[in-house]
Amino acid sequence: MTGNDSAPLAARPENLPRHVAVIMDGNGRWAEGRGQPRRAGHIAGSETFRAIATHAKHRGLEALTVYAFSTENWRRPAAEVRGILALLRKYLREAIDSMAREGIRLRFLGDLDAMPPALRRLTEETDSISRQVEGMTVSVAFNYGGRDEILRAARSLTEQCQTGALTPADIDEARFSDALDTAGLPPLDLLIRPGGERRLSGFLLWQAAYAELYFTDTLWPDFTPADFDAALAAYASRQRRYGGLGGPG
Ligand code: IPE
Ligand code: IPE
Ligand code: MG
Repeated sequence: MTGNDSAPLAARPENLPRHVAVIMDGNGRWAEGRGQPRRAGHIAGSETFRAIATHAKHRGLEALTVYAFSTENWRRPAAEVRGILALLRKYLREAIDSMAREGIRLRFLGDLDAMPPALRRLTEETDSISRQVEGMTVSVAFNYGGRDEILRAARSLTEQCQTGALTPADIDEARFSDALDTAGLPPLDLLIRPGGERRLSGFLLWQAAYAELYFTDTLWPDFTPADFDAALAAYASRQRRYGGLGGPG
């Protein structure tokens, strides 16, 4: 990172989002455009992730949530899936050493039951370190789908109704949010999708209800801290009305 990347942000700090999500898309096309295997794109994308997480921390965000692997991404060739799993393993091993120093807490969103046991153990290790670290929360969505998350929450609430711990009337928005993978995170303010597509691909369907959306054609491996700042500046200029008229009260 150059010194310039950490220059003060032009956006007014009071308009800094608390929680930003990123759909890390475009790795494959980045590699193919250079005549390289898709794997090279995932490696470059994982470096971008590190740089952006560090930058978001410097900017003072409370939470950064990234889409690393969707419930649908298992449809890809087995070799590509293996490559992505290997990169996640490498990232977690390094994070175990660096989280406390960098003030980054890691958590996972998604159905982790499908994770290979070795990877599962690493997530448990990062969870236990995170409990002792103060700082920005980086959530990695892995084997994550927004519909799957909502269904798992609905099932868990239904089970609590069956045992008598809850009644259906207890299930309001707050209770439902608490049953989602993102329980306890600040509300989602800004969702960024690099890579040129204008869709959510199942990411944070419930949480994005009133998030600001920011799309850019830049492929994820090319995405820089300056691009992140451009998204923050766009966010700062937006007026969030939440269905009202945007005035006071
Ligand atoms: C995002 O990049 C990474 C994952 C979905 C795991 P892609 O691999 O989807 O890259 P493109 O969209 O094919 O370029
Ligand atoms: C979304 O990207 C998932 C991740 C970035 C992890 P995809 O590349 O899987 O999305 P689609 O297939 O273009 O909708
Ligand atoms: Mg893609």
